[in-house]
Amino acid sequence: MTKTSDHPSNSRRVFAIISHPDAGKTTLTENMLLAAGAIHAAGQVAARGQRRRTQSDWMKIEQERGISVSSSVMTFEHRDLVFNLLDTPGHEDFSEDTYRTLTAADCAVMVLDAAKGIEPQTLKLFEVCRLRDIPIITFVNKLDREAREVFDTLAEIEDKLALDVVPMQWPCASGRRFKGMADLASNMFLPFTAEGEHGAALALGSAEMAASIDDQDLFEEYSEEVELAREYGEFNEQSFREGHMTPVYFGSALKKFGVLQLIDALAQYAPKPQIEKCTKNGQDATVAPTDKTVSGFVFKVQANMDPNHRDRVAFLRLSSGVFKRGMKLKTAGNKDGASKTISVHNPILFFAQDRELAELAYAGDVIGIPNHGVLRVGDSLSETGKIKFAGIPNFAPELLRRARLSDPLKAKHLRKALESLAEEGVTQLFKPAMGSDMIVGAVGSLQIDVMAERIKTEYGLEVVFEQSMYQVARWAVSDDDDALQAFIDKNQGAIAEDLDGAPVLLAKSQWDVSYAADKNPKLRFLKIKERS
Ligand code: G4P
Repeated sequence: MTKTSDHPSNSRRVFAIISHPDAGKTTLTENMLLAAGAIHAAGQVAARGQRRRTQSDWMKIEQERGISVSSSVMTFEHRDLVFNLLDTPGHEDFSEDTYRTLTAADCAVMVLDAAKGIEPQTLKLFEVCRLRDIPIITFVNKLDREAREVFDTLAEIEDKLALDVVPMQWPCASGRRFKGMADLASNMFLPFTAEGEHGAALALGSAEMAASIDDQDLFEEYSEEVELAREYGEFNEQSFREGHMTPVYFGSALKKFGVLQLIDALAQYAPKPQIEKCTKNGQDATVAPTDKTVSGFVFKVQANMDPNHRDRVAFLRLSSGVFKRGMKLKTAGNKDGASKTISVHNPILFFAQDRELAELAYAGDVIGIPNHGVLRVGDSLSETGKIKFAGIPNFAPELLRRARLSDPLKAKHLRKALESLAEEGVTQLFKPAMGSDMIVGAVGSLQIDVMAERIKTEYGLEVVFEQSMYQVARWAVSDDDDALQAFIDKNQGAIAEDLDGAPVLLAKSQWDVSYAADKNPKLRFLKIKERS
């Protein structure tokens, strides 16, 4: 029998990379896969994406805009560990997929451009990590270009993200003067060579290191800086695990400098799959990765891998048990207690270059389950059908659009299409209490474009998504049911229901939301709705 300490789930590491567009996420991903030996030539990640994209029509949007709408999973091995990298779209037009993917990660690498520091999208993604207290490893990229003062970048992380920072390395200058970096724990200096990559490590402060820097003033200045860098204190693993402290690494993804060290850091610090909270038969419970029965949750559904079929692939993150191909899994029952059973005959594992049928999978693995729309984002799956995870939260949309049909007689048809796409998690749908409008919500405008395209190709409906009079949506909740009902009754003109029937305040501005909150102290207006 396998001892708990030898359990294969202990060797799994699930992580995501978060960054603002252009900070270097794609380059880093590719060079991580190269460094780990999972691919053999640069350009393969992009090429693979290209091939996949041509398979489907609506993904033309992706192609036209040169971005990837769909996040996917890439598996690679390093130092006897199996890394599952959950890829998140890296464009300003990102979508809820990006947020949802983070709910399945146990750790995140935050990539910053050394010249720019924290950018708006870094901040948004960070907030989602904080929601789950996901530990974050920071990678300051592009040191081969002129960078800002490192002390300023670290101060910015502390200020804007309220995170304690501990530099694990310290770079020597940047841009054309970039000479390499010190590993502060081992006191070794890794020289950066003109061709990129690095030479053999040299003892910090040694004559060899001075010779490699080849600039006495810079050598002295750098030696002082390294002493100052040590004043940030010791790395505290517990504080990191709890999401309060971030270790900071440096490098150049493009020049493959510091990439292997970053993977080593993940190997050392990224947590293995942990015990997770859930309910069993409606009672609070937990599942452990080493439990015998299989359980997991769907964090993403990707549609239209083939436009001729309404095929979907649901991405299931396993939380416990040993999954075997052919197994029957059940969804946790919905409000009416109905549960669906799925025989998983063709589960997919996603390697950097290939997809393989998954014969066996463990907690911390992600498998793709082809299905015809049975599985929804947020679904819990288990052998018993009795395990239910809290589900994937909904994030308040930043864009609200009113769906308008050119043929009003098809309204019923449209409603069905919008509901089905909202169930799949493409966009959110809000039905105002008054009138027959259908309001669609998204966190990025690309979601709206994808939805319009799919409604046209899959449902044959011409729809225009026009500006809505509402700008802000917040879930209205209260411990006092009467107070909530009274608010709903009094504000019918501004109330809508989401797909689950939960009340949502639609407002013209944030000011209106604050006003409602002031006037209704028993109510809260939430930006994030946790699914029950
Ligand atoms: P993203 O996925 O975060 O959006 O960023 P991506 O990796 O696509 O990188 C954005 C740009 O930054 C690319 O240049 C890439 O080559 C460059 N880059 C990434 N890492 C580094 C680095 O460490 N040093 C330097 N100097 N540049 C880096 P591009 O010109 O937009 O594209 P390309 O023509 O090089 O592909």
